[in-house]
Amino acid sequence: MSLAKYTVTAALPYANGPLHLGHVAGVYLPSDIFVRFLRMKGHDVAFICGSDEHGAAITLRAKKEGVSPQEIVDKYNALISQSFKDFDISFDIFHRTSSELHHRTSQEFFKVLHDKGRFIEETSEQYYDEEYSQFLADRYITGECPKCQNPSAYGDQCEKCGSALSPTELINPKSTLSGKSPVMRSTSHWYLPMEQHETWLKEWIQNGVLDGVQQHDPKAWKNQVIGQCMSWIDGGLRPRAMTRDLDWGVKVPLPGADGKVLYVWLDAPIGYISATKQWALDNNKKWEEYWTGDRKLVHFIGKDNIVFHAIIFPILLKDHGDLILPDNVPAYEFLNLEGDKFSTSRNWAVWLHEYIENHPYKIDELKYVLTSIAPENRDSEFTWKEYQQRVNSELADILGNFVNRALVLTQKYYDGKVPQLGNLTDEDNNMLADVKASCKKIEDLVYAYKLRDAQAEAMNLARIGNKFLAETEPWKLIKTDEVRVMTIMNLALQITANLSIVLQPFLPATANKLADFLDFKTNDWKLAGSDELLEAGHQTNSPTILFPKIEDSLVEEEVSKLHAEEPSSDFDPQKDETSFDDFSKMDIRLGKIISAEKVEKADKLLKLIVDTGIDTRTVVSGIAEHYKPDDIIGKTVQILMNLAPRKIRGIESQGMILMAESAAGELSFMVSEKNFEQGGGIH
Ligand code: 2FM
Ligand code: ZN
Repeated sequence: MSLAKYTVTAALPYANGPLHLGHVAGVYLPSDIFVRFLRMKGHDVAFICGSDEHGAAITLRAKKEGVSPQEIVDKYNALISQSFKDFDISFDIFHRTSSELHHRTSQEFFKVLHDKGRFIEETSEQYYDEEYSQFLADRYITGECPKCQNPSAYGDQCEKCGSALSPTELINPKSTLSGKSPVMRSTSHWYLPMEQHETWLKEWIQNGVLDGVQQHDPKAWKNQVIGQCMSWIDGGLRPRAMTRDLDWGVKVPLPGADGKVLYVWLDAPIGYISATKQWALDNNKKWEEYWTGDRKLVHFIGKDNIVFHAIIFPILLKDHGDLILPDNVPAYEFLNLEGDKFSTSRNWAVWLHEYIENHPYKIDELKYVLTSIAPENRDSEFTWKEYQQRVNSELADILGNFVNRALVLTQKYYDGKVPQLGNLTDEDNNMLADVKASCKKIEDLVYAYKLRDAQAEAMNLARIGNKFLAETEPWKLIKTDEVRVMTIMNLALQITANLSIVLQPFLPATANKLADFLDFKTNDWKLAGSDELLEAGHQTNSPTILFPKIEDSLVEEEVSKLHAEEPSSDFDPQKDETSFDDFSKMDIRLGKIISAEKVEKADKLLKLIVDTGIDTRTVVSGIAEHYKPDDIIGKTVQILMNLAPRKIRGIESQGMILMAESAAGELSFMVSEKNFEQGGGIH
């Protein structure tokens, strides 16, 4: 039987922030292990990823950082792709959805479905933020989830219960731009009538059968994935808009669709295809071979992405035609950190790039710990204490110790040359049978996506080696039976060589070091389990310590960093101290706005005339996006009087109006609660 071919994708991370360990443990590391293993087995495999550069995740971040969306995606794409390189994640390509090729690919995909009549164009009333002149979908609107009562669900999804939502389902919705309750306005969009797909989806997800043909083995899918999908389908699928009224994204390729872009969850998974196209172009391959025919498509994702990969994207792929549907969607649960959820906004995270910067020689240590605790079937937790414990008592004491003993004794007794194998005892044969069985078990576990157990089994090989040496005690026997010791050491070295094979998917750098120590390199998994990897007389090298112990001080420092950086990056940090004298130099008074008008060709500026009690002066203020001139005449405001005059757009501004700003960016005059008139001061 010929080997299955694979196209493996890892969820495209939003280019709106750095990667943290939760992302790594739940998508990128498991997919990398799986792919490295497949390559060793000789499967034809493409490993595809890239950054997801559209949607509100990007534009809201840009607003928060006060820069353009393009600047945001350029910055974080560079940071993320560098982190992947440094962490040695072996993507065949890491592409970008902002690329021209991706835009074209998504537009063509949309057109195919549109021309086949697979969308329904409909005009309806949608939420709209009048202050920002914007329709509110996805992360632009938040409210209570109707399913789990999470108070901060988004307009397209509740991240707590994973439900796919539409803005009109949210209870008590609020704009995330202005923080205000939205109004309704009519707009037209193209909808995917998901409810028309329920029957085949059920049959395909539950039984693996599509159009009467067995496509995948449903027993190989995680229960949680099937369970979540079935509960959505049983709850009734609804039409879902595939376009948005936004200016950042892939333009809808239809006449009269100005100002509309594709829904980010339509274009993002098509990103897997466009990335494959780019990779094929770069490597003289045909991209279609990776998306058609007899090939397994596997999507590694986090659990919040299940609906998009196991329901919506398959509908799109099937509607498009001539493309394969996923063979499996291994979805991971969430990783927590020291008793709390990872949170970018609260800076409760261990950032991958910071870990790499601080511990550049401990990449495999992190890989090992993250795979050991991977949230495969339930949420799990990373703590620095456990990191230390697993590195010290597993990597150092078991793996490091065994390898070191085998190689150091070989140096000592035989100048590093592999000794002759003599007659095998029952003990030897049993041990070798265990090694073979262990290698086979690792293979079966990886194919079954049980990577946590697979890595534990690879470590078991080192345990077998340790036990063998502990029982045969070559360091004692060398005094009485040199011939027997030669066999023992030969076998110990064969186990080490096996470790250099089976560790490759999990700990590639360590496997490489073992290969260097042994001067034996292969990436052919078929050799795993063999007891004839090293010939007698083969020269090995002196080992170095594989895993230095993790000191308590590292744990303490890392934990304290975590606490030090709380409570929140939502708020600006306190500025440097100022003296009372400096403060009292500021002359702040109450003034009354007596006239207000827009400054020509400046969207943000109003020219105000303010009665300050001692004079009437002109102040140019950046509040035009928040106030209409007529609405503020007569308002009492606080004005900083003795700020050096400045020319703004040719108008001399003689002071500054002080404003309060809400966390959501809304502005308010800092007026006095007792309605004091102009002329008073602020002390
Ligand atoms: O949840 C996320 O981070 C998304 N950016 C994942 C996209 S996966 C794919 F569809 F592109
Ligand atoms: Zn919910």
